[in-house]
Amino acid sequence: MLKRRSFLALGAVSALAFGARAMAQTPGTARASSPNGTLTVEATTDNDGRPMYSILRQGRAVVSPSKLGFLLTDSVAIERGLTLTSAPPVTVDDTWEQPWGERRHIRNHYVEWRVTYTERSGLLRRVDVVFRIHDDGVGFRYEFPEQPGLKTVRIGTELTEFNLAENGEALWCPAWEWNREEYLYNRTPIDAVGSAQTPMTVKGQSGLHVSIHEAACIDYAGMNLRRSEGTRFRAQLTPGLTSAAVVREAPFNTPWRSLQISDTAAGLIESSLILNLNDPNRLGDVSWFRPMKYVGVWWEMHLDLKTWNSGPKHGATTENAIKHIDFAARHGFGGVLVEGWNKGWDGQWFANGSDFSFTEPYPDFDLERVAAHARSKGVQLIGHHETGGNTVVYEQQLEPAMALYERLGVHSVKTGYVADAQGARVTGPDGQVMMAWHESQAMAQHHLRVVEAGARHKVAINAHEPFKDTGLRRTYPNIISREGQRGMEYSAWGNPGNPPEHDVNLVFTRLLAGPMDYTPGIFGMDTRSPGGVQTTWAKQLALYVVIYSPIQMAADLLENYEANPGPFQFIKDVPVDWAETRVLAAEMGDHVVIARKDRGSDVWALGAITDENPRVLSTPLSFLDPGRRYRAEIYRDGPDADYRGRRESIVIESRELTASDTLTLALAPGGGQAIRFVPIGRSSR
Ligand code: NOJ
Ligand code: CA
Repeated sequence: MLKRRSFLALGAVSALAFGARAMAQTPGTARASSPNGTLTVEATTDNDGRPMYSILRQGRAVVSPSKLGFLLTDSVAIERGLTLTSAPPVTVDDTWEQPWGERRHIRNHYVEWRVTYTERSGLLRRVDVVFRIHDDGVGFRYEFPEQPGLKTVRIGTELTEFNLAENGEALWCPAWEWNREEYLYNRTPIDAVGSAQTPMTVKGQSGLHVSIHEAACIDYAGMNLRRSEGTRFRAQLTPGLTSAAVVREAPFNTPWRSLQISDTAAGLIESSLILNLNDPNRLGDVSWFRPMKYVGVWWEMHLDLKTWNSGPKHGATTENAIKHIDFAARHGFGGVLVEGWNKGWDGQWFANGSDFSFTEPYPDFDLERVAAHARSKGVQLIGHHETGGNTVVYEQQLEPAMALYERLGVHSVKTGYVADAQGARVTGPDGQVMMAWHESQAMAQHHLRVVEAGARHKVAINAHEPFKDTGLRRTYPNIISREGQRGMEYSAWGNPGNPPEHDVNLVFTRLLAGPMDYTPGIFGMDTRSPGGVQTTWAKQLALYVVIYSPIQMAADLLENYEANPGPFQFIKDVPVDWAETRVLAAEMGDHVVIARKDRGSDVWALGAITDENPRVLSTPLSFLDPGRRYRAEIYRDGPDADYRGRRESIVIESRELTASDTLTLALAPGGGQAIRFVPIGRSSR
């Protein structure tokens, strides 16, 4: 590991030598720049002593002066009458290794800069704003030190603004709707956004791309964005159990507010800002979790061929589970998910979740036998804890539930919180059961308790209907994946289903936050959703490369795989843990081409997807190792492929290619292309 910390005096020559520029300060104004000087942050106070910040890129405003501060529910706001002082910026250059991920090594190179705001009179309260200025984005958080004038901090409103300097186009998903995070994206002018979830991504008129999100949300409320006027947004915290959204004791830090900033959409996708803003691994060795592909007793429930609840259509029978385990073993899949194995699914489970047992199987599911069979076949059983959003019932059983999985050799669990946006049950301040928003402080606490319980029992967590991803997998690498947007299930029953641009949109928004358990790989295209699965087969395959997750489901019915061994071969072959990731082409909401190198071999894979428009993209293969010949196993849209018609039209062919070749990718409407590059020898070219 390479680590360098250099302390830079204000305006000193050594600061310039390290590329970090700290300029002379006038009262009320201070600035610091990123390592190569691309981004500059300016912190100011106005005549009333109101704290503000702005961000410039190569001298041009990206974020115009924007407010900082807090409205408190039991004390005077911290938002005016403040003086500003700032510490010398410090350069950090650090490379760290992910236990698993979209790339193995991540460079974390930034200038850290602490700005202190102190009240001139009254309570003399102090809040620090710490900026981490990277060349590809900025993170900042508030740090509340221990102090006499501020003990318990009850935050009603966080005043943080993001006053975008130019109009342009925004890709955003509505916030505060009943169905949590699962909405289709809007693509509108920036000044027509309403309330948006994060990440919200914009492309300004100048072509500059900015994505606003947050990192390391621990014991705090999730942040949405509300446009107040023009292109000015304000943080809008998820409401808490009292009039305060957040209640904390000082000292504490807020999550990082993050802005990824890049000339290109590809730059956003390649950025590791969110992970870098999180703390290093706290769990140590997590090699008990291995990235894997899995099949499961799942899609058949979403097609209503089987049920979660008991009865004649019960999906989670011993026999069905064993069938899936045998299939997984035969085709090299690492895991098998079985949903509906435990008692509590009968009746209206999503109305309250109060009947769930996380240790007792239904009588027709012999858990011990199924787990033993899986172990004997070298396949991992994947656990399932649907809670119906009832964290009270779940937490009562958390220890025995995780201990059971540990004993059975189950090292990952899919959790679920199916309940309305403000329908999660939590324990309130007086011990009473209260309804909480999914991204409230109470739920942030709950999810961390589950992650910590899982870690104690060597169980990794894949939460559905989750708290949004803020990169905590760096600190807790047993957080492996999550849902947090419309997944493939909407193509099974959604009305509307997922339109062809949906998975493309995800890449520029939701997936900037982290891995998604999207569950691709569907070949049976006629479903309960009008329009069925609105992609081609080739696009289904490409999703395994485009959408990063360390667990990837082959989500379709087993018989659809058995009937289609040609395209199924790609799902079997595609790696799931990567040494490197390169974005070869990307246009927000239109198309994306991503190449990734396997972590365990020299194989590369490429995935290209488009929205409803057909496209021809030319892709140089210069990412391949030079001097090598590759057998490219190509899965491409047939000439008549179309998401509205012949979705199954696919051409599978092999070609010999090298790094000096350029490929032409022809993508059908709603189509895609998947390629695996296998090294076959040295190249003379
Ligand atoms: C919603 C999840 O996203 C889905 O995958 C799961 O099957 C159901 N909840 C039931 O737990
Ligand atoms: Ca869901």
